[in-house]
Amino acid sequence: MSGGHSTYSPKTGIGRWFDARLPLPRLVHDSFVSYPVPRNLNYAYTFGGILSLMLVVQIVTGIVLAMHYAASTELAFDSVEKIMRDVNSGWLIRYLHANGASMFFIAVYIHIFRGLYYGSYKAPRELLWILGVIIYLLMMATAFMGYVLPWGQMSFWGATVITGFFTAIPLVGEWIQTLLLGGFAVDNPTLNRFFSLHYLLPFMIAGVVVLHVWALHVTGQTNPTGIEVKSKTDTVAFTPYATIKDGFAMIVFLAMFAYFVFYIPNYLGHADNYIPADPLKTPAHIVPEWYFLPFYAILRAITFNIGPIDSKLGGVLAMFGAIAVLFFVPWLDTSKVRSAVYRPWYKLFFWLFLVNAVFLGWLGSRPAEGWYIPAMQVSTLFYFAFFLVVMPILGLIETPRRLPNSITEAVLEKNKGSGTAHPTGATASPETKG
Ligand code: HEM
Repeated sequence: MSGGHSTYSPKTGIGRWFDARLPLPRLVHDSFVSYPVPRNLNYAYTFGGILSLMLVVQIVTGIVLAMHYAASTELAFDSVEKIMRDVNSGWLIRYLHANGASMFFIAVYIHIFRGLYYGSYKAPRELLWILGVIIYLLMMATAFMGYVLPWGQMSFWGATVITGFFTAIPLVGEWIQTLLLGGFAVDNPTLNRFFSLHYLLPFMIAGVVVLHVWALHVTGQTNPTGIEVKSKTDTVAFTPYATIKDGFAMIVFLAMFAYFVFYIPNYLGHADNYIPADPLKTPAHIVPEWYFLPFYAILRAITFNIGPIDSKLGGVLAMFGAIAVLFFVPWLDTSKVRSAVYRPWYKLFFWLFLVNAVFLGWLGSRPAEGWYIPAMQVSTLFYFAFFLVVMPILGLIETPRRLPNSITEAVLEKNKGSGTAHPTGATASPETKG
């Protein structure tokens, strides 16, 4: 996955033997040891590594949970209680997995917003971005199905509401819903297929992550200046520079994760999911997990018919459109300058977009009544306007700030201002001497 010329030379006999037959150590060396990364990467660039770690945490804890879980409507709720009370360290495994899902989404949102800020999606990284959006979609499907498994009230009613959206699709909607449910209502066949898919999808995510990182290693990483690497002095070796920085960020992230697991393990969940599913009792408010809330607000913002499209179908289209628009971002942004650092107006709109996304999330947790409805509509409008109006037009009319000639020039200029010698240690590293 290195893309460049290999510098690996095995030192031992067994190393040479392996290298001639299956050069796996060479691949690892070229991808994660000698691989050159821009010398000015900041902590926003550590979230890809954190995401890889979280994927492993989710798969490992999920496999252990599956050893004790029973995917049947009669047993599911009790089997989760048994995990919490009787299985050795079961409570820990379950809390790691449930909170791990939230941590995964926190990391992916930071990763996506980093991409939007630094224009990471721009040529030649369009496929890298699109693979990311596919991962995000798979993550959402996995999380949705996982939430159904404990068979609590929110599991049942969440699944009922979400699968109900599909009936809004003309002609094939009912058929899709029946296929998803394995019948006409959320029941045992639904739980079984959701369990099967919830086990499968993380491995599909892992497969797409391999492609994602492969594409990354072909194009190379961007950096806060948005200028491509021009010479050897612009880069440092992945090990030790990026490994230490990624490792440190992972430890800080894990500390936050541990705080949730050990002190407030149910903070991000919903109390109603500790009540066994009851198809005859609808909870007062059906709310999805926090990471779906902005899309839930967009769904409920469409309260009116648009021509032949009724409000229900309009809501579903707006919700899926809000994700689908991400696929087109590389072409919607017309700016020649990549990074928001040099684009004052884009920077402003970026922060407005972020605040608006958080606001949408909050609105998603509110009932669709009173002033919340117009607020959801205005916020939804801004969400789409950012991608469909601001991105294309701003790129054409904005005057960017002067770009430095190279990454090295940007770093040295910054250091001159702050009086620091070379905080990355880059100029002192033997790898950078050209
Ligand atoms: C399981 C989920 C994911 C994993 C494990 C993952 C992994 C990575 C890694 C290791 C990197 C390089 C380090 C970094 O820049 O942080 C990276 C870069 C990148 N990722 Fe992801 N990623 C994931 C999801 C996503 C998503 C959802 C998107 C976008 C929708 C995305 C878009 C990108 C882009 C555009 C880059 C290049 C960044 C740059 O060089 O500026 N990734 N990813």
